[in-house]
Amino acid sequence: MVRKIGILTSGGDAPGMNAAIRAVTRIALNNGVDVVGIRNGYKGLYEDNMFDMDKRSVSNILSRGGTTLGSARLPEFKEDNIQEVCIDNLKKHDVDALVVVGGDGSYRGALALTQKGVNCVGLPGTIDNDISGTDYTIGFNTALNTCVENVDKLRDTSSSHHRCSVVEVMGNHCGDLALYTALSCGAEMVITPETGYDEMEVMEQLRYLGEAVQKDHAIIIVSEKICDCEALATKISQNTNFSGRATVLGHIQRGGSPSPFDRNLASRMGEKAVDLLMEGIGGHCVGMIDNEITSLPIEEALNKPKKSRKHLYRLFDRLI
Ligand code: ADP
Ligand code: F6P
Repeated sequence: MVRKIGILTSGGDAPGMNAAIRAVTRIALNNGVDVVGIRNGYKGLYEDNMFDMDKRSVSNILSRGGTTLGSARLPEFKEDNIQEVCIDNLKKHDVDALVVVGGDGSYRGALALTQKGVNCVGLPGTIDNDISGTDYTIGFNTALNTCVENVDKLRDTSSSHHRCSVVEVMGNHCGDLALYTALSCGAEMVITPETGYDEMEVMEQLRYLGEAVQKDHAIIIVSEKICDCEALATKISQNTNFSGRATVLGHIQRGGSPSPFDRNLASRMGEKAVDLLMEGIGGHCVGMIDNEITSLPIEEALNKPKKSRKHLYRLFDRLI
C-alpha cells in the first residue's frame, strides 16, 4: 500500500506543471496519502532537497506559469550509482512512489527508478508535444497560444512593410508547435523535421507567391534546430522581392499563465497518476487520447512512433 508519494518536475518547464502538482497533492492528501515535494527535478532528489506538502502548499498556483517546485537537468542521473543515492534519499523520507512531470528524458529516469523498485508514474509536461501515447502534452496549448499571439503581431508589421517574416518556434525535434502555429496563423510556409528544408524550394515558392500570386507579405514558421533563420532571412532579401526579417520566439514560449485547456488537462492527468500509484502500478505514463485519460507503459510510449500529421500538412497546403 502506498503511504507517501513524492512529486517532481523535470526537464524544460511547461505551463500547467503547477496544475499537475496541485492535483497530485490535493488528491493524494484527500485519499490519506502523504505528499513530499522534490525541488529541481532529479537534481533535488540527488541532493535530498525535499519537503512535506499540505493542501496550503499548492494554494494559488493553478494559474501560475513555470513550476513552483523548480526544474533542472541532471545528465548524471543516467548513472546507476546516482540513481542509488536518489533511492536512498527517498527511503530516508519514507517515500514509496513518485510522480514525475516532464518530457521523454524525464520518463527514462522514471523508468529506471521503477526498475530499481520505486514505482513511478510519468505525466507529459513539455511544450514540445513530442510524446507518444497522448494527443497533447501539458503546456503545448499555452505555448501555441503564445506563438499565435506573437505571429499575429508579426503579420501586422510584415504586411505594412511588404516583408517576409521568418519565425523560429521551439519543439525540439517535433514539428507540432510549428505546424499548429502555421495553421492557426495562416502562414505561407512551414518548415519542420517532417517537411524537411530545401533553401532553393523556399526561394522558388516565395518568388511564386510574390510574383504570380501577388502576395505583399509572407510568414514562414520554422521549427528550431533546422536552419539559421537570420541567414535564411538575408537570402530571402537577396533572392526574392520580399525583404526578409527573422524572429526567434525563444523562451517566451515556455512562460505565461497556463490556458484553461492545460490547467484541466494537468488536473485530470494528476488525478490519474495518483489513482495508478494507489493501485500499485508503476512504470506507466498518463496520456489523453480522444479526450479520455489513459495510461500506458513508459517503454511503450518511448518506443511508439508519434501519430502521423500528414492530414494536417495536407490541409496546410490546401489553404495556401
Ligand atoms: P525532458 O524530460 O523535457 O525530455 P531532458 O531530456 O533534459 O528533458 O531530461 C530531463 C532529465 O531526465 C535529465 O536531465 C536527466 O536527469 C533525466 N534523464 C534523461 N535521460 C535519461 C536516461 N536515459 N536515463 C535516466 N535519466 C534520464
Ligand atoms: O523541451 C522543451 C524545450 O523548450 C525545447 O523546445 C527546447 O529545444 C529546449 O527545451 C530548450 O532548452 P533550454 O531551456 O535548456 O534552453
